This record gives sequence, C-alpha cells and structure tokens, in this order.
Amino acid sequence: MKILVTGGAGFIGTHTLVELLEAGKDVVVMDNFSNSKPESLARVKKITGKDFKFYEADMLDTAALDRIFEENPDIGSVVHFAGLKAVGESCEQPMRYYTNNISGTLKLLDSMNRHGVKKIVFSSSATVYGLPKSVPIKEDFPLKTYNPYGETKLMTERILSDIIKADPEWCAVILRYFNPIGAHSSGLIGEDPKGIPNNLFPYITQVGVGKLKKLRVFGDDYPTHDGTGVRDYIHVADLANAHLKALEYAEKTVGIDYFNIGTGKGYSVLDMVKAYERITGKTIAYEIVDRRPGDIAECYADPTKAKEVLNWTAKYGIDDMCRDADRWQTNNPEGYTK
Ligand code: UD1
Repeated sequence: MKILVTGGAGFIGTHTLVELLEAGKDVVVMDNFSNSKPESLARVKKITGKDFKFYEADMLDTAALDRIFEENPDIGSVVHFAGLKAVGESCEQPMRYYTNNISGTLKLLDSMNRHGVKKIVFSSSATVYGLPKSVPIKEDFPLKTYNPYGETKLMTERILSDIIKADPEWCAVILRYFNPIGAHSSGLIGEDPKGIPNNLFPYITQVGVGKLKKLRVFGDDYPTHDGTGVRDYIHVADLANAHLKALEYAEKTVGIDYFNIGTGKGYSVLDMVKAYERITGKTIAYEIVDRRPGDIAECYADPTKAKEVLNWTAKYGIDDMCRDADRWQTNNPEGYTK
C-alpha cells in the first residue's frame, strides 16, 4: 500500500521521504510550496535514487485531494505534515492558521474517510504541553496551549480523537516533536526557513556561515544550569525514523495513541552554541537580550513510551546534529534556490 505524505517538501517531510523510500515504501507526495521549494524534492530523488508521484496541491482544495485518492486507490495511510508552523506569525494571522491547519486538515480527513483511508500519522508538537508542571514530560501530562499555532496542533489531536471514538476502524498515531534540528548526512537537504529564522538552530548556522551577524540569546535568568532556556534537540533523521516506526505500528493497530519524540536530554542555548563552535571550529557572536515572550525555562521529553511501544529511540547526539546542520548550511548558504 502507498503512503500519502502531505507537506512532503518541507524540512521534516523531505527527511521522512528519504527514510520511507530507503525502507522500500511507495509514497505519493503533495505540497503547495507555501513554505518550501521544488528543489527539495529533486534532492530527495538524488539521495535515494528513487522516483515518486508528486501533486502540487493545497489541502483546502477538496477536488485536488479527491483526485489524489482517486488516481492512487492503493494509498493506505497518510503522514500529515502540511501546516503553517510559526508561533509569532500565528498570533498576527490567526485566521490564516485556523483556516489552513484546521479547515485544511478537516478536508483531508473527510477525503480520506470518503476513500476508505483511515490511518494517519500526525505531526504534533511539544507545544501542546504549554507550561509543563515538571520535566521530563510524559504523554499524560496536562495539555494547554498559548498561541494559535499550538491551538491548531491540540485541536487536531482532539478532532482525531473524536473521529476515532465514532469510527473504531480509524487509527491515528500522534507524534509530539520536541526540537528538530540537524540535516541529512549528504548535506543535500536541510532546514530552509523563509527570511530570518525564528528558531535557535537555523539562526546559529546562519551566523556560522556569516549570513547573520549575531545571535540574540533570549534571556539568561531562567532557573537552568546557565540561565538560558533548555530544550530537547532531536536530529531530524531520528525524527524521520519515528514516522517509519509509527506507520508500521499504525498498520497493525486501530485507535489513537500519542508519543513524545525527543531524546530525553535537555541542552541550553549556550550549550548548543558551544557544541556548534566545538564541532565546526567557527565562532558564534552572541548577545544576551530580554526573554522572548511565551518561552519557558525547560522542555524535554520522557521518550520511554516511544521506545516501548514503537521500538523507536534516538540514535544521534548533539555533535551529529551540529555537524550535519553545518554541512547543509555551508553547502547551501541560500537554502534551496528554486
Ligand atoms: C518553538 C515554538 C514551538 C514550536 C517549535 C517548532 C515558540 C515560543 N515556540 O519552540 O511552539 O513547536 O518552535 O520548531 O516559538 N532562542 C534564542 N535565540 C533565538 C531563537 C531561540 O535564544 O534567536 C532560544 C529560545 O528562547 C529557546 C531556545 O532557543 O530557549 C529554543 O527556541 P526555538 O528554537 O525557537 O524553539 P522553541 O521555542 O522551543
């Protein structure tokens, strides 16, 4: 059976395509290129030496979704990445986020249902834990969100849960990602944020190649070992592998289940700067500035459940993440150009 990958041209999508194709899976890919470029898919083909069917389509376009399922009646499951993902932007443009991420996902789920495709792996985020009461975070911690982006992730989880209550044939595997960074070891695919990056690691690598002057460290007065924010950084190749494991699990089960996808280790902003400098020999200029509103002190996973149920565990450490992200950024200082 084929796997439909929505948002397959993005950062996590491309790495997951490589993982799936190398495992011998057949994929159909859709993307609207709203935050990605066609070159990323050409690079996936170059890495794997494999071809796949691609649809330039938007989730809001029901006819386009229906056409994908009609032309590929052998699609058996969906890995759903397509979605807008910038926290700040979601506060400025909530309608756009709810329309795209919620209405778009509803249209996708409806089209799946009408075509008898009832297995989905959904990319959620650790953002659904809001301000966690303690760390490491377990899947049964209380859920709360503080911005429209996070709300769309949590709402989608709840929509899937209700669909499954009503139709026991459905299966949803919810992966709650921690902080994905790194890049494929070939240096051919990686993270390509539009404009100035919001997230820490692409900012560091762009300072590393001289594209940006100085990192701003958002606060050094958090109750952490060096005062800067602590996160669970996970190599995107490990994250990609979690999707393969989640699909294998979905094939043999029904119902809904939730998994933290992180390493279980927390590193501060300054730990990451130092690791990057040590691995690459480059210097990262930085200044300490005020805290970023909405940030929390510490966030890292308890990934035990993913290990026990999915047989998934992270293989790569921060040295690999720094080396691979730097290789991508150095080889592609402007990201994908077409
Ligand atoms: C952010 C989102 C989260 C989303 C995730 C997706 C916020 C508040 N949270 O997570 O909802 O799921 O991205 O990737 O935006 N930092 C700096 N300087 C920078 C950028 C970041 O010091 O220029 C610090 C932050 O304060 C934080 C750490 O680096 O302590 C990681 O930040 P970031 O990479 O933006 O990820 P999150 O905030 O964890």
